[in-house]
Amino acid sequence: MEKPKFKTVQEVIAAGEGLPERYLHTPTGDDESQPLNGLVPEMDIPAIDLGLLLSSSENGREELSKLHSALSTWGVVQVMNHGITEAFLDKIYELTKQFFALPTEEKQKCAREIGSVQGYGNDMILSDDQVLDWIDRLYITTYPEDQRNLKFWPEIPIEFRETLHEYTMKQQLVIENFFKAMARSLGLEENSFLEMYGENATMDTRFNMYPPCPRPDKVLGVKPHADGSAFTLLLPDKDVEGLQFLKDGKWYKAPIVPDAILINVGDQIEIMSNGIYKSPVHRVVTNREKERISVATFCIPGGDKEIKPADGLVSEARPRLYKTVKKYVELYFDYYQQGRRPIEAALI
Ligand code: OGA
Ligand code: NI
Repeated sequence: MEKPKFKTVQEVIAAGEGLPERYLHTPTGDDESQPLNGLVPEMDIPAIDLGLLLSSSENGREELSKLHSALSTWGVVQVMNHGITEAFLDKIYELTKQFFALPTEEKQKCAREIGSVQGYGNDMILSDDQVLDWIDRLYITTYPEDQRNLKFWPEIPIEFRETLHEYTMKQQLVIENFFKAMARSLGLEENSFLEMYGENATMDTRFNMYPPCPRPDKVLGVKPHADGSAFTLLLPDKDVEGLQFLKDGKWYKAPIVPDAILINVGDQIEIMSNGIYKSPVHRVVTNREKERISVATFCIPGGDKEIKPADGLVSEARPRLYKTVKKYVELYFDYYQQGRRPIEAALI
């Protein structure tokens, strides 16, 4: 298979030829004078105790209402008490850093091939006039196990494969519990969303590396987008900020909460919840001095499943907002390429 010939950001920096034009955002209209890395306020999202969410106690009910309030306004929560130890999360951060610090030839062993999303490489280039994101990534389908393609799984660092396997299994439990909690917080039967998610659901994990950038005022780590997943589990860098969410036309930065998993709603939960839970637009800004890493896992409903608003959330007072979609992620890339929000295609 042919490998893409574009340089990764790390290779661009190593070449020492300055910052290629292709990464620069040219200001349009109103934000002419606004640098991309201007100061923004911090978002006010709650830390949610996953254990409590599943309890039927008074405190559990309170936690569910906190979840409801955060997901219907921001579409984002910080999840605590998720059952994954701090030491284990640290190991994932450490292995991610070690992977990106390897020589290019070693990383290239897992290189993405043309026409595939999986593997190590730069931002996917979908069109000639696309402004490129200042990001290198390693993208791997981790679940179900029979869909794994080990050629994209690094052999070095030595513990990478086994740790990613273990992380996948641990996340599975978090995902199942989070689906149940979301359904309960909307007054639905606890398996309503899990049934739509299906037995053939997949998990994709994306290891992101944002090298220091000479022009954080004009370059983005990730352009504004909403995720095409059901929802996304994110381990943001523990020291370096960068992730921002859009609410009512303004950007807010995500706080750094040690040991929490940040979960954001994706388009498919927005559809399943009939628009009550919001799939937020977010972006990553770059940093002049420091590199930033993050690890995102996308939970993607099975391709055999029809995704539509849950019956219990459609009424005369709240008419159905979205069509039934299937294989949403495929539709997603078509729209993304045109710079449109894919969820528009699902609106009735
Ligand atoms: C993504 C994403 C945020 C981050 O990978 O979809 O939004 O902090 N990542 O890297
Ligand atoms: Ni995202």
